[in-house]
Amino acid sequence: MITPCLSPKVRAMRRATFLTRLALAVGIIAIALRPAIAAEPTAAPLTCILGAFDDELTLLYQALAGPKEEVLRGIHFASGKLKGRSVIVCRSGIGKVNAAMVTTLLIEHYQPSEIIFCGIAGGINPDLHPGDIVIAAKTAQHDFGTLRAEGMEVRGTKSPVTWQRNPLFVEPDARLMALAEAAGHRIKLADIKTSEGERHPRIIKGIVATGDIFVASPAKKAELRKTLGADAVEMEGAAVAQVCRDLRVSWLVIRSISDRADHNALQDVDSFTAVAAQNAAQLVMDIVGHLAAPPATGKAGT
Ligand code: ADE
Repeated sequence: MITPCLSPKVRAMRRATFLTRLALAVGIIAIALRPAIAAEPTAAPLTCILGAFDDELTLLYQALAGPKEEVLRGIHFASGKLKGRSVIVCRSGIGKVNAAMVTTLLIEHYQPSEIIFCGIAGGINPDLHPGDIVIAAKTAQHDFGTLRAEGMEVRGTKSPVTWQRNPLFVEPDARLMALAEAAGHRIKLADIKTSEGERHPRIIKGIVATGDIFVASPAKKAELRKTLGADAVEMEGAAVAQVCRDLRVSWLVIRSISDRADHNALQDVDSFTAVAAQNAAQLVMDIVGHLAAPPATGKAGT
């Protein structure tokens, strides 16, 4: 075999070419591995708790240890420890758009392990009374769909992420549901004074209907019960659920009944918001106290 006798200049050029190729290959491998490295959970678990307005969050703000405040885009986020867990507590404002905006901001800025909505609702299930709690096993938007002469045909929204139709009923993940049910067996809620005497609040798993309407109408209430099987109605839960589903974050909605969505709803909401908000917050605090570190690839429900 004839080995060419290369000049020092040619050998130096070949070495430089070899080193450049090596650097390129290392760079390409590093870029290829980057998503796998980024997918490793690095931050400590963080739970975000949302309520539509301050009354729904009073107990949680009071219980925050080492509270700090951050303002993003004009929205106030209170951080601290609740039952030993890092949390952010935040007021979303009333209605689906506000709830969706603040949920998105929370996810983008804080990358929470889960988001829990805590608040009041109108009772649709005739067995529910002020102070009772509904753990949302399903949420649905009752005002998204087609309005025909025969009435409203509700449908799932279409995801801007997958461009597929979302299910009408969105479900939280089983881990958070199980924690909420266990919390429901543990907590001790105070009896509630009603015109018919004192009663002990009930806690049920149920269907929560969400829409941009405060329902104070027996007709609408009957429709929500008939078409969706709704147990409670409120104005944010399904919006939070939709954003969390699309952005792959676990979520849960806890609601306590402040009124029965009927002729008296506006008066009842004034009378029972405090007790309902307190009951919902008590359940949420117990859940937060029993949250373990989420699995690395947390499933975000359906
Ligand atoms: N939140 C509390 N009560 C409600 C009602 N009756 N309708 C909608 N949202 C509510």
